Formats: sequence, structure tokens, C-alpha cells
Amino acid sequence: MKTTTDFKKMKSSHEPVVMVTAYDAPSAKLAEQAAVDVILVGDSLGMVVLGYESTVPVTMDDMVHHTKAVKRGATDTFVVADMPFLSYHAGIEETFANARRLIQEGGAHAVKLEGNGPVIEKTALLVQAGVPVVSHLGLTPQAVGVLGGYSVQGKEAAEAEKLIKDAAALEEAGACLLVLECVPEALAETVAKSLTIPVIGIGGGRYTDGQVLVYHDIIGYHSGHMPKFVKQYTNIKEIIEQSLVQFKEDVKNRSFPDKKHVFKPVERDEIELYG
Ligand code: KIV
Ligand code: NA
Repeated sequence: MKTTTDFKKMKSSHEPVVMVTAYDAPSAKLAEQAAVDVILVGDSLGMVVLGYESTVPVTMDDMVHHTKAVKRGATDTFVVADMPFLSYHAGIEETFANARRLIQEGGAHAVKLEGNGPVIEKTALLVQAGVPVVSHLGLTPQAVGVLGGYSVQGKEAAEAEKLIKDAAALEEAGACLLVLECVPEALAETVAKSLTIPVIGIGGGRYTDGQVLVYHDIIGYHSGHMPKFVKQYTNIKEIIEQSLVQFKEDVKNRSFPDKKHVFKPVERDEIELYG
């Protein structure tokens, strides 16, 4: 399993950090078998598996539940769990209590927090308390209401400069990784070059220190809009659709079950052998 020390080493040796989301045991198991460096239990689970319109409705209970499932599937991979909407803003005691749930109940190795401003101070206090923190800048989906939608961030020079400063402050606060979402390629490159921790891009172009994608986007397991930055490796949705239609037809026309799916009375010598 990778550790926060390995992440820094990977940065200095220019080895890309591979992160993928997972929300349940079987997906986590496959991610681990593929030897990804980090599994993220993203609050994107709200949209991807719970059917919400955004990540805003996701609760601490949702995050703990799915983190536990991921940990049952992946026992030897660094697991990061998202702290959900408003779970790290009320005060440091509530922030600690919520981080403790993700780590002690869920089994996460680190927590991820979106944003800057007061979140930088929270990050420092969590790290000082021994909690590994992953930061998330650029497009921060929990702020969709304030941002007024999902769009590329840091296009204006002033915005880009602010982002570079925030990234440095988060590194200074002790973050072990920085996720940078939906920013121009040149800005992501500048941020990656200015930090000693790996910058993991999603919609941040080619020059970050690693990449993260949503599991269901990689395999094409939803009918929603695919963002431009996604590389979809297969179309699992079509395979599932075909399989379900085939199952329905097989039952309707009685071609399932077939002989090979049927139990027969036990043979006499089998009874003697086993019982
Ligand atoms: O929730 C999530 O999946 C994320 C990634 C997009 C980084 O935060
Ligand atoms: Na997230």
C-alpha cells in the first residue's frame, strides 16, 4: 500500500499518481487488482450511485456507509474519503468528529476537503491532529450553488493567481495531495510545478503529477453527460442493457433456465459419499 511518504517520492521521481473513485466493495476490489495508487470514495457517489442532481445532499452517514463497503473490497490500497457538504465548516470540534467517523468507522486513510479560506486553517488543524488531508481546488462541486453551475475555473488572471496562492497555503498547512478539477492546462501545470506534493488533475490537462477519474465515467456506466475531460474506456451500460433484455426474453420464451441450471435428485452413492 502507498503512503503519504510514497506520494512525495513519486512526485520527485516523476511517477504519475493514479487515483480512481469507488463506492462499493466489488468496484474497490477491481481497482485494487488494477493496482491503482489511491481509491477515492468521492461524494460524487451522490450523483453516480444515489441518483441526486449534485453532491450537496450527500451526508456523513452516506460517506461512512460507502467507505466501509470500499474498505471491505480493497484491504491494501490507500483510501481517501470525501468530507461531504458542510461537514467541515461549523467548527473544529465538529470537523474532528466527522473526520474521526470517516477514519475510525469507515476505515479511510485520509479525508478530502474542498476549498480555500477557512478550509486552509481546518486542514492545518486536522494534519496537526494526525489526520492525512487531501485538498481539492478549482471546480469544487459542493459549491455548485455559489458557482452557479459546473464550469472551468481559473480562466481569469486574478482567479488563477488566487488559486496558485491557495494551493501553496494548503501545502503549507500539510495537505498530502491536491486534487485540481477543471482548470486550464497551463494553470494546472504551474500549480504542479510550484508544489512539492503531487497535484492530481481531473480536467486539468496533461502536466499534473497524476490523474483521477470517476469509476463510472471510465467504464461508461451511466446515461448522463460525459464531460470533455473523460476518457471512456468501455461502454458497460450497453452490455448491461443487452444482458437484461436477453434475460427478460429468455424467461418469457422459456429458454431460461436450461437443463444445466437445474437441480436433480441426489444419487444414492452421492448421499453415502457426503452424508
Ligand atoms: O467526488 C469525486 O469523485 C471527486 C473527484 C472528481 C476528484 O471529488
Ligand atoms: Na468529491
